[in-house]
Order: sequence, then structure tokens, then C-alpha cells
Amino acid sequence: MSTILIIDDEQNILVTLSRALSLEGYDTEVAGSARIGLEKLSSNYVDLVLLDVKLPDMDGLSVLEKIMASKPGLPVIMMSGHATVEIAVRAVTIGAMDFLEKPLSSEKVLVSIANTLKLRKLVAENQDLRELAGLNTTMVGSSKAMEKLREEIRLVAPSQGRVLITGENGTGKELVARAIHEGSDRRQGPFVKLNCAAVPRDLIESELFGHEKGSFTGANQMRRGKFESAHGGTLLLDEIGDMPMAMQAKLLRVLQEGELERVGSSDTIKVDVRVLAATNQDLPAFIEKGLFRQDLYYRLNVIPIQVPALRQRKTDIPELAEYFLHRACKENNRHAKTLAQDAIDALTKHDFPGNVRELKNSMERLAILTQEDVIHSEDVHRILNLGQGTNASTRKGESFYEPNKPLKEMMAQAERSLILRALADCDWHMTNAAKHLGLERSHLYKKMKALGIKAG
Ligand SMILES: Nc1ncnc2c1ncn2[C@@H]1O[C@H](COP(=O)(O)OP(=O)(O)OP(=O)(O)O)[C@@H](O)[C@H]1O
Ligand SMILES: [Mg+2]
Repeated sequence: MSTILIIDDEQNILVTLSRALSLEGYDTEVAGSARIGLEKLSSNYVDLVLLDVKLPDMDGLSVLEKIMASKPGLPVIMMSGHATVEIAVRAVTIGAMDFLEKPLSSEKVLVSIANTLKLRKLVAENQDLRELAGLNTTMVGSSKAMEKLREEIRLVAPSQGRVLITGENGTGKELVARAIHEGSDRRQGPFVKLNCAAVPRDLIESELFGHEKGSFTGANQMRRGKFESAHGGTLLLDEIGDMPMAMQAKLLRVLQEGELERVGSSDTIKVDVRVLAATNQDLPAFIEKGLFRQDLYYRLNVIPIQVPALRQRKTDIPELAEYFLHRACKENNRHAKTLAQDAIDALTKHDFPGNVRELKNSMERLAILTQEDVIHSEDVHRILNLGQGTNASTRKGESFYEPNKPLKEMMAQAERSLILRALADCDWHMTNAAKHLGLERSHLYKKMKALGIKAG
């Protein structure tokens, strides 16, 4: 059942309301001041807040602002005995779901709560469905850097311009690409992605342009390429730095002329596709080394968007952490959990070399591996082992054995360490490192991704 926190300094309101809500089957928490209310909010899981506008220690609207900042999406209903329209409008602008006038009728309060919770549920379900359909482009974070990013997306999305999205691993480059597609007039068309690093070199042309039946061994039937599939929509060329040189020339032609031929065919196919590219590599440095074509770079980089690393926008960590925790609990059918302030502080101190993806995975682990509803800093340290730097521990060539640690985790650590060593030896040249390790480059890439190692 839903838990409702009532924050009001009038004792009789706390008593009457919690009795009425309990009778309807709600769990209640009460607080006679803003301070106690905010404390309870950080240490209990709460589904909805009833908040008085006038409190002895703080103005109710400021409390509302604090709640919106620390628990975005948590529904708050304001209550006031001397409401002006102005205050009501401000409350709703800040994010209150409803505004009730005192004296309160329990019937009105119950209807407002039921409606608000129903709306929340619909919004959450809609988000789940969009997630399933790959349509979720919710971008969490209110830092200056995130606001700038949103503004850039808002400006470039409606254009036809090609965008080169750069940023470290796990910063949200793909999410940005999807948001651009969703904000464009191609949103009804397909969004197609090709990860250039994950496809073996000799298959990349057929992946992009398709092939005719019998055009090479294994081509048992005709297949459309990603460009054709993306016709009328958007194609994201992910990890573009890994595109082989020979393929770069062919790609250039499609970008210039909007036409291509399937492998094994001489028929020309016209395509209307907006191309977005993403990379975590330094393409200008690649150009210097002769690994990337300058003319292609200029074609792709009409509008550059740089996605900042999470450590450069640490103020987003609490909001992202709560968001991922909430989702992970739901997806794993766990009771909803919340983060205590000390847990948030512990997370915020960490640098997250794997960026938002690392934070997301961390919150999934916490959702699954903690017992209590409130997660504390001890849990964060115990379960996440934060602060074990990637490089410091790998240079020493230490033994990987740790008592009481599952073999699987030790093996992952060993694997990670060895891969990092090989990469460092090869100056982070993926193809060479893969050779040193006797792996296919695409296999190495997958392993790095699974182990949270960022390329370059
Ligand atoms: N601001 C954000 N709000 C919510 N979720 C986010 C945000 N940024 C990233 N994510 C999520 O984090 C995960 C990693 O993001 P994404 O795949 O877009 O990163 P990336 O930069 O493309 O990573 P890589 O370089 O490894 O391909 C995804 O699950 C994505 O939905
Ligand atoms: Mg990506």
C-alpha cells in the first residue's frame, strides 16, 4: 500500500488526516515541522506528500522546492488555510500536483490523493512501455551541463543537420541520438543503430548497404542494410572511429549523393536518411595518424555535441541514482527503496569512470542485493566497492585472490586487469591490443564494454 507523509504543524490535522488515510488503507508518516518532514523523507520510502504552506521553521514553498530537487517526480499536494491564487500558481509551477484549501474535507483529500497516485501510475506505465519499445529518451539531470545539452538537442533536433556526438563511455551518447530523432520530424520514421566496433570488418559493408543472395559465402538470401532500413528516419553510426578506412570512402559517397548499391549488385538505391555519428575517440588525432578521413569527418561533424562526463556534473548523481534505483526495484519486483543522505554522499564522492552506465549498474546491484528499504552508505561501500581505481590496482600486477570473494568476480577483475595492461602496452590501439590477446577486435570490444573499460 502507498505511504503518505503529512507535514503540518497543526497537531489535530496530523491526527485527523492520518486516521482518515489509515481507514482507506494507506500507511502514514507525520511530521510537525519542515525539518522533521525532510528528515523522514530521506530515511523512509514515501509515495506522496501532503504539505502545509505555512510551517513554523520554513516556508512550505521552499520545502516543496527542496523536495522537487531531491526527489523529482515525487507527488506533493499542498494544503493551505490562507491561500492566495498567487501562492497556488507558484506551488503548481514548482511542481505541486494539487492545491487544497483548509478547512480540509477528508473526502476531498482522499479524491485528490487517489487521482494523483493514479496519474503517477499511468506516467510510470507509459515510461515502462516506451522503455520496452526503445522510445524512452528521458534524460535525467538538472545540472547546468545537462541543461546546456538539452538546449543543444532542442536546437539541432528539428534540422536535417548531421551531428557528431562525442563523450566518454556510458555518458549517454546513444540517448542523445535517440532524443534528436524523437525531436525531429523524422520521429515517425525508424531509428536504426549500427555499432561499427562490434561488427567484423569484412561484414561492415553488408551491414550498412545490404547484400544480394549469393554475393559472398554465407549470403544465403538478400538482406537490406542499415541505410535502407533507416529510410525516412535516422541512422546512428556508433563508435564511428572504428569504421575501416576502405568503408569510410564508401560511406562518404552515400553522404554526398544519398545513393548506394547492395554488395553484389549494381543497382543503385536512393535513400533518405539523417546520419548521426557517435564516438568516444579523438577523431582529429585519428586523422593525424591517417586512421580517419578528414573529408568524412567534416561531413559527419556538421554540428558537434559533446556529452560531459558524469564527474563533471556531479550534482546530477543524486537524481540519477534515485531514478535508476526506482526503476531497478520495479523491474526486479523489489519493494521500492530509497537512498539515505549518507548513501547519496558516498555515491557523489565517487568519480564513476564508467559514467552513467556505471551508476545505473550500481543502482541495479544495490536494488537487488540490499534487504532494507533504506540504503545506507555501508551498503554502498559493501556492495559497490567504490574507489577501487581501475589503473592503480592494475599497474602493480597484484594477485587477484581475495578471501570470501566469489570466483566469478575475481576472474572479472583479473580479466579487466589483463585487458587494461594489453591496451596500455598498445597505446590503446584496439586492433593491436586484440592481436596481443588473441581476440577478435569485436570480441575485445564486447569484453571491454561488459567490464566497464572505456576505450581510449
Ligand atoms: N541523463 C540520463 N538520464 C537517464 N538515463 C541515462 C542518462 N544518460 C545515460 N543514461 C542511461 O545510461 C546508459 C548508458 O547510456 P548510453 O548507452 O546512451 O551511453 P553511451 O555514451 O552511448 O555509451 P557507450 O560509449 O558505452 O556506447 C543507458 O542505459 C542510458 O539510458
Ligand atoms: Mg553508445
